[in-house]
Order: sequence, then structure tokens, then C-alpha cells
Amino acid sequence: MSQSPQRSAPSQSEGDVNLSPRRTTWQKESLDDATRELLADDARWFLHQSLSTPCLNGVEHAEGIYLVDLQGRRYMDFHGNNVHQVGYGNPAVIAAVKAQLDSLPFSPRRYTNRVSVDLAQRLAELAPGTLHKVLFCPAGTAAIGMALKLARIATGRHKTISMWDSFHGASLDAISIGGEEVFRAGVGPLLPGTSHVPPPGEYRCLWDCSTRGGCDLKCADYIEYVLAHEGDIAAVIAEPIRCTPYVPSRDFWPKVRAACDRHGALLIFDEIPTCLGRTGRMFACEHAGVVPDMLVLGKGLGGGVMPLAALVAREDLDIAGHVALGHYTHEKSPVACAAGLATLDYIAEHKLVEHSHVLGEHAILRFREMQTRHPLIGDVRGVGLLLGVELVTDRVTKTPARDEADAVLYAALSRGLSFKLTMGNIVTLTPPLTITQEELDRAIDILDECLREISRTG
Ligand SMILES: Cc1ncc(COP(=O)(O)O)c(C=O)c1O
Repeated sequence: MSQSPQRSAPSQSEGDVNLSPRRTTWQKESLDDATRELLADDARWFLHQSLSTPCLNGVEHAEGIYLVDLQGRRYMDFHGNNVHQVGYGNPAVIAAVKAQLDSLPFSPRRYTNRVSVDLAQRLAELAPGTLHKVLFCPAGTAAIGMALKLARIATGRHKTISMWDSFHGASLDAISIGGEEVFRAGVGPLLPGTSHVPPPGEYRCLWDCSTRGGCDLKCADYIEYVLAHEGDIAAVIAEPIRCTPYVPSRDFWPKVRAACDRHGALLIFDEIPTCLGRTGRMFACEHAGVVPDMLVLGKGLGGGVMPLAALVAREDLDIAGHVALGHYTHEKSPVACAAGLATLDYIAEHKLVEHSHVLGEHAILRFREMQTRHPLIGDVRGVGLLLGVELVTDRVTKTPARDEADAVLYAALSRGLSFKLTMGNIVTLTPPLTITQEELDRAIDILDECLREISRTG
């Protein structure tokens, strides 16, 4: 068996790569024997893989905005893999799932069922433009695969443009268009014809601009350059708002949309982690000022309970009736779709999209105030409840404060706040949209306190 070279985990990734010595110390000081045994069993029986096993801690319970570990400690979960828009164990979602389990737990292919049709119709009604045709599958990665296939069939081309540092899932087709080394390296040949371009707002700016976002339109020009020079591009595929988080400047997407139209390429938006109110709008593309040709949704669509993703495509792209685009066994899962419908109902009834917008603005104001007191905070950004606080050792050079960010991560964990670090130095905060302002303020107070502590001890 050939051994691939052992790679160290990259520190700049959208994934949470954290295997630092502080993690070992935190585990030593914080975990009891039963938890240690669970972690050892997990490491014994699961194939180890980057970004997951070995694990940080075990969970026993999840409710609302909280994860509860085996020792009964509660953590406000400001990460949640972006599945928890409506909170963990949302009673409306759980009730819908239980009722569905009692009536129709599975729907074999060749049959359809009311609940999956209703969810498809609801998404089509909510989506912008003529995004009126839907396919479901159990994972975001699989939905990306369906979008890539449909783009090939619709255009008769196979090439794509996607962004460096992006993530679209872990399957071979998704990592081919993805831009993270941790997923792409060491697995052999990837899909042909996948051009990568720098993402807008690139912190390692190719164009040497001095302000974040200053190079966005150069990035858009570069996309058009590749569309023209490479030719035969089937689709440009990207997240309209990156989870780093980064919201491109206002003219970026309209420029890319126009370039796609000029060159006959489709525009596919991956909103798997950012859909359903996360950004203070139902869909992240509503901030982009353009309508894509295909929208890919996932994660929170299953209400934080069921695996569910969707491809929502332009009505006139319903031209692949002769091809199996997905053919997933759980393609019309009544239980997952019941969770999806209950989720959309809950979001509407509780005005979570508006709530996300209002709380997001409140959080940004608080972080900006903190920035005046904490030199470590280099940038504060985000939209809705997709928030990022970038820690730097020097605001001019924007040198990432990775060690300090790591210290903040564990200091916060010990105070009951869990979040992810993106690129090693961006405190990325995506709480459930059900969070109250008081809870959000408590989390921000914890961060404030941790930053004070790190500055004192640093
Ligand atoms: C932007 C983006 N695309 C695709 C995926 C893959 O989704 P899934 O894990 O459901 O396959 C993810 C998951 O983190 C994601 O963040």
C-alpha cells in the first residue's frame, strides 16, 4: 500500500483545523473519565480524517442555542455547522418529524408524496426569479454534484470557474471545484477543466490593493478574462457570501453575472451554509443584486435534525429528463421534507429573517465598539447572524493573530461559548437565529472578557 506523505494541517482554512497544544491542555483540564473514554472509543472505531476525528469533546444533549456535554456543561453554540437556524431540537420540527415517522417514513422511487412536493413548491415560491424547479438529496455535496451535471447538460460544456479557498463539499467532484488544499491534496487526479480564481476580498491580495474589498472588481474582471480566454465554460460556481465571512462589494456579482451572460456560462450559487435567514435575508443571493441560474441549499434546510439539501434551478433548465441528475435513494424523503417544511414555517412565523438582520446589526455595533478598546481586533464584518471578528497582531500589516485566536477559542469554551476559527484567526460566529438579544450580548461579553484576558497574559 502506498503511503501518502503525512501532511500537517494547514492553518489557513475555512474548516476548523484545531489540533493545537491548547486543545490538549483544555481537554486535560476539562474532561472527565467518561468523556475521555468516549473520545478514545470514537478514535478507536472511526476512520480518522482531517477536521473531524479525533474529537474535541462529546455531546449528550442539544437544545435551542445550547450544546450540553457529558458533564452537563452548557455551551452556546455559535458554530453548529450552520444547521441550527431554528435552534437545536426545535419543538415544531421535532413534532413534524415524529408525525411523519408515524405515517410515511420513506418514499421509494417511482412514488411521490405530498410533503416533498409541498416543500419543493414552497422553495420555488420563496426563491427569486424563475428558480422554480427543485431536486432534493441528503447532502450539500451531492446537490453541488447535481448542479455541476445539470450545467454540463444545459450548456454542452464541462469546464467551470470556481474560487481558491472555497469549499463546496468533500466528494471528488466537489473538491475539484473547491479551493482548499486540505481537501484537494494527495487524492490523485481531480476533475478536468476546473479553473480557479482568487475570491473577492482576498486577504492575500494578488493585486496588492490596500483595502479589503478594494480588489473585488479586479477579481470580477479576472473571472471575465478566464471566461474569454479559457472559453467553453459551463458555469461559474461560488458562494455569494463566503463563510469567512466576506460580503463582496456591491458591484461584484452584477459584474460577474453580466460576464457569465456574455460568455454563455451559468451562474451557480452555493448557499448551503448561508441560506434560510442566516444573512438577514432568506437567501444570501438577495444581497448580491443578481439572480443565479441555480441555487444550492442545504444544512439548516433539514431543521438541524434531518440531512437535506436542494438544487433549485431556473424553470427553463428542466431539460435533463433523460439523465439521472441525482438518483439518490432518499431523493424525496418525507421525513426530511417534513422537517424542511416545519423549518420554513417556523422561520416565517417567528420572523427569524428580520430578527437575524436586526441582531446582526446590533452585534456589529458592539464589535466595532470593542475594536476601539482591543488592538487585536483588526476587522469586524458580516451580515445578519453570519459574523466575523478578525484578530491581527498588527492592523497595518493585517498579520493574523493565530496564537491569540487559539487562546480566545479555549478561554471562551471554558466560559460556555463555542465557535469556529476560520483561516486560523477569524472568530466566526453563526448562532441559531432563535437567539435572544440578551443571549447574544452575553456571548459578546464573553468574547470581550477573553480578549481582555489574552491581552493581559499575552
Ligand atoms: C459552502 C458549502 N458548500 C458545501 C458544503 C457541503 O455540504 P454537506 O456537508 O452537507 O455535504 C458545505 C459544508 O460545510 C459548505 O459550507
